[in-house]
Amino acid sequence: MSKSMKPSQRRWLVTGASRGLGHAIATLAHERGDKVCFVARSPEIAELAAALGPDALGVQADVSRADDLAGAVATMVERWGGVDVLVNNAGLHKGGKISAFTDDDWDKSLATNLSGPMHAVRAALPHMEPGGAIINVGAVVGFRGFPGDSCYGASKAGLSGLTQVLASELAVQQIRVNLVVPGFVMTEMTSGVSEHAKQKIISKIPMRRMGEAEEIADVVWWVAGSSYMTGSVIVTDGGLMCNL
Ligand SMILES: NC(=O)c1ccc[n+]([C@@H]2O[C@H](COP(=O)([O-])OP(=O)(O)OC[C@H]3O[C@@H](n4cnc5c(N)ncnc54)[C@H](OP(=O)(O)O)[C@@H]3O)[C@@H](O)[C@H]2O)c1
Repeated sequence: MSKSMKPSQRRWLVTGASRGLGHAIATLAHERGDKVCFVARSPEIAELAAALGPDALGVQADVSRADDLAGAVATMVERWGGVDVLVNNAGLHKGGKISAFTDDDWDKSLATNLSGPMHAVRAALPHMEPGGAIINVGAVVGFRGFPGDSCYGASKAGLSGLTQVLASELAVQQIRVNLVVPGFVMTEMTSGVSEHAKQKIISKIPMRRMGEAEEIADVVWWVAGSSYMTGSVIVTDGGLMCNL
């Protein structure tokens, strides 16, 4: 039984790696010497990864489609033989109060933020060995109520539940499953937030600033390499949740 990840090059699959947090997570793992499969819907993903060299691979896939993820894993397994670290980062945000958001907003949020990680785990698991790690990317809204965030909050709360169940189920296989919860980080997802709303959120963050994608990536890197942490919620939010 291996207590921790093997020290040689690990093989990562990171969803939503075309930009934002996923790109930072995938790039950091690659820069630190691991092999990384970048997954996203953008057609440019293959080119983006190819530019990094042979230890990076880019596969176009929509996480809401089980077949796409099976294909991404198959491509990675063909190239590198397996998966050591799966990061379920791909996500989308659909806002709107209960009477305003559409059924499609709800369905797409759950399909991407909750079913996506489930499909990815199903695809990757047969190719993971003891010592492997699954890291899901949650959100503060999955733990606290924000008006107008039903779709996003419900999907991320579901992901928290999935994390704990899988941690408990997969521990016997020595595969750890954890939830990293970023606070408020400037990416395309948060770029539409008005200056007023942004300042309001920052005023609630004890550290009085937004997070950087690289700060979240560094935590994911550390969680991936830990040996006795599973089913944990690792909040990385400058203290935001303490104030809510
Ligand atoms: N930014 C924050 O403040 C914050 C806070 C808490 C949690 N998070 C979470 O962190 C994760 C990353 O967010 P971000 O801020 O980096 O968002 P982002 O800049 O909008 O990036 C989202 C990424 O997910 C990919 N993606 C979206 N839908 C996809 C799908 N169906 N299949 C495959 N890839 C898909 C996008 O790539 P393509 O468009 O190329 O597919 C993109 O690479 C999300 O799960 C988000 O909920 C973010």
